[in-house]
Amino acid sequence: MISTVSTKPYADQKPGTSGLRKKVPVFQQENYAENFIQAIFDSLEGFEGQTLVIGGDGRYYNREVIQKALKMAAANGFGKVMVGKGGILSTPAASHVIRKYHAFGGIVLSASHNPGGPTEDFGIKYNIGNGGPAPEKITDAIFARTKVIDSYKIADVADIDLDTVGSFDLAGMTVEVIDPVTDYADLMETLFDFPAIRSLISGGFRVVIDSMSAVTGPYAVEILEKRLGAPAGSVRNEVPLPDFGHHHPDPNLVHAKELYDDVMSADGPDFGAASDGDGDRNMVVGKGMFVTPSDSLAMIAANATCAPGYKNGIAGIARSMPTSAAADRVAEKLGIGMFETPTGWKFFGNLMDAGKVTVCGEESFGTGSDHVREKDGLWAVLFWLNIVAARKQSVKQIVESHWAEYGRNYYSRHDYEGVDTDNANALVTALRAKLDSLPGTKINGLTVTAADDFAYHDPIDHSVSKNQGIRILFEGGSRIVFRLSGTGTSGATLRLYVERYEPDASRHGIETQEALADLIAAAEEVAEIKRYTGMNEPTVIT
Ligand code: G1P
Ligand code: ZN
Repeated sequence: MISTVSTKPYADQKPGTSGLRKKVPVFQQENYAENFIQAIFDSLEGFEGQTLVIGGDGRYYNREVIQKALKMAAANGFGKVMVGKGGILSTPAASHVIRKYHAFGGIVLSASHNPGGPTEDFGIKYNIGNGGPAPEKITDAIFARTKVIDSYKIADVADIDLDTVGSFDLAGMTVEVIDPVTDYADLMETLFDFPAIRSLISGGFRVVIDSMSAVTGPYAVEILEKRLGAPAGSVRNEVPLPDFGHHHPDPNLVHAKELYDDVMSADGPDFGAASDGDGDRNMVVGKGMFVTPSDSLAMIAANATCAPGYKNGIAGIARSMPTSAAADRVAEKLGIGMFETPTGWKFFGNLMDAGKVTVCGEESFGTGSDHVREKDGLWAVLFWLNIVAARKQSVKQIVESHWAEYGRNYYSRHDYEGVDTDNANALVTALRAKLDSLPGTKINGLTVTAADDFAYHDPIDHSVSKNQGIRILFEGGSRIVFRLSGTGTSGATLRLYVERYEPDASRHGIETQEALADLIAAAEEVAEIKRYTGMNEPTVIT
């Protein structure tokens, strides 16, 4: 019943910022997914008889890979697999299920915010027993294994019915098909003041969530419409589709523009939110006020005690290096720890496990806490609704009073997508070569105080991660950061992050790109972006 199948290694199975991401046709090559899954199992020890969680965001090819993973888990000796009904588990829900049921780990199938479909993106990620993405030590071992793998094990059995909740036997292993929503919705109910949010909504506060035809639809319907009493239809694009209905399921001002425009219109809703393909990102828009993800982290931290799950305060805050320093001012005021990590959620896990931080965030529309070990889109949305309900103020009032108290960190990210890989690398190499000579000089009239390539020394396991982004700091706390994306599947994406701190409240109403114009020009001057990328403008500005 168990076969050992011979295979040949693929050279390109290096996990990126968040697992292995490739186009679907790449994953459809013979044994491609099998090789990677076997390499995961070969890099782990002690899972005999243990439980594995499997789920994905429902994108194209999800079901096929889940069937393969189930049969391979059985053949490799797992005792049980818990899999979401229909193969569905949002990334934060998968993290929660791993933790709640003390699973050995989990396989999460997603390419997050990247489009889905027969020629679009797919991904496989391994999460460890704390519910979080595997640390680099494990992803490096997986990559090393993929380079030499010569066989994989699989049970020769028929496909499992993924659409019926219940337990089944698969070659001696138990498969439990679980409802993907209930555990997660129950967890949210323990963290937030549902009665207060319910009365806010019944009092006429209009909330809309755009699930972008991706995984959060069923979660948002259960929580917002069923448990919090919002009218039917408050969750839009609520049915997860394999191709996300041709949406680009990335909740930002470009891809969730319809929602943004609706909330900004005179008779539109009071509050809008959107999530990405796998449900870990979020966008929050109040009437007349878009909340930047960096600000969202700072404001959630500053108002954390409004939510019952955080009523005793937070232990510390962590943010990825390119994320604005708005949260740092909150940590300073609260007298709690502040940690700056490389890009990618996997770097927060150790800090949360050690109890050093409670909330974490990234500028890329990711916020979360130690309730799971992934960022969590709906969690952030509920946190905002809880704060609005508790403070009895609009999002706009909350944001503006925060700026008045702490100052405003103007912030923007400019992405140059689809850049020729050699040219992108050449830009970075040229910039790196200049770093030592920059401090003390002026770029576009701005004095450089420091310039380096960010390296992270993990305070818990003492691992070192180098080359995590080039940063140039200017007098007054402004900075520009350059990084190449680690999640793309074609060409290179250059990310330029721009930040200016403005303490003066009379200068908090400037349009963001205008407030950052001299820094954007400085970035062009020092990095020659137009020349290297061949582009006159970024493809996406957030
Ligand atoms: C991007 C984001 C990063 C996030 C990751 C996974 O990675 O920038 O913050 O953790 O997606 O959602 P990048 O493409 O920049 O490597
Ligand atoms: Zn995501």
